[in-house]
Amino acid sequence: MKSLLLTLFLLAIYPSSFAGSLNSGDACSVGNNRLQTGTFQFWSECNSVSFCDETSSTCVPKRCRKDDFPFGYPQGSSDIPPKCEKGEFCPDEGSDCQPLLAIGSDCQLNRDDQCEAPPNFKELADTSGRGLNFNGSVCLNNKCYWANATLGTQCVFENTPYIAYGVSGEFIDIVSRGNCKIGLYCDSGSSTCMKNKLLGDACTADKECDSWNCLSSGVCGETAATPHHFGTWVYVLVALGIIGGMSGTLTGLYFAHRKQREQDRAKRAQYWREQNAFHQNLMQMRETARASILSLKTGGRGNEYGSRDASDESHSNLQPNGPKASGLRNYIDDGSSEMDDSLMMHSGRKMNEGRF
Ligand SMILES: *[C@@H]1O[C@H](CO)[C@@H](O)[C@H](O)[C@H]1NC(C)=O
Ligand SMILES: *[C@@H]1O[C@H](CO)[C@@H](O)[C@H](O)[C@H]1NC(C)=O
Repeated sequence: MKSLLLTLFLLAIYPSSFAGSLNSGDACSVGNNRLQTGTFQFWSECNSVSFCDETSSTCVPKRCRKDDFPFGYPQGSSDIPPKCEKGEFCPDEGSDCQPLLAIGSDCQLNRDDQCEAPPNFKELADTSGRGLNFNGSVCLNNKCYWANATLGTQCVFENTPYIAYGVSGEFIDIVSRGNCKIGLYCDSGSSTCMKNKLLGDACTADKECDSWNCLSSGVCGETAATPHHFGTWVYVLVALGIIGGMSGTLTGLYFAHRKQREQDRAKRAQYWREQNAFHQNLMQMRETARASILSLKTGGRGNEYGSRDASDESHSNLQPNGPKASGLRNYIDDGSSEMDDSLMMHSGRKMNEGRF
């Protein structure tokens, strides 16, 4: 199996592990090192911060890392091992930094960075970010190559069947890599370098397309990273929707408030009419009172009963003490709340009934 072949050379020197459950100091077996099914991630019996040391067959703490943020260490931990210097690499195990490997040496899966760069690395290096090679070198079938094969010449390729997950479930995603120069791909049938296909050309794999995207319809499509653009009508529709929603809300609020305003205005007008009527009643009542007081003063005792009969019953009930006129006025001044309003109107009406 390819996964077992993976790192024979490196394992022979620095056996170690990745994300098992054994802690540092526990006994382990280098023979159990493997690549995970589907992901081809390196795995050993030792936990993520240690590797299985071949000479002692125990888990020992890792001594180098290849990631900026290695898995398994707490943030800011002082145990994080160092990265390797230029011209060196850290194997998947995390055992020790090693010098870059010469062409033809054994390397680990997808670790193009373990191989030494060609003299013309500037010309061969992949700058697309697709990881077609590292600094012009490439690790294929666990051997180091330079990605320098030219159009029509023999090339080497490696197909890795990763397990991928889609809407319809698991499927195999075959990633094919080769040692052809940038702009060419290694054809699996003839093992020769062919020119990358352009948009719309027939294809059978992503690697054949310049865009690295062979559609299920069998033609090269746009790069998967191409942003999706919408037609002008979509923007117009969205703008109309926004404007329509805003004006609809404003219109609705305007009508709702207008209704409310009219109700309030009617209430105020009604209140004003009642207050006005009440006020006039009071004036008349005061006149009556003054007239009766005058008649009392001028008419003498004999008229007392008659004038008392003429005085308003509710009037005297409302204001039993103090001067009648000012007391009533105070009562009106207090009428600010609705409850007072209704009380006052009620009294006013009562007085009306009493008076007329
Ligand atoms: C690429 O290889 C050259 C030559 O070995 C080296 O000087 C350079 O630093 C390498 N570049 C990277 C990004 O590793
Ligand atoms: C191309 O790379 C191979 C190693 O993969 C090397 O042996 C060969 O000399 C290189 N050819 C040229 C023209 O650089």
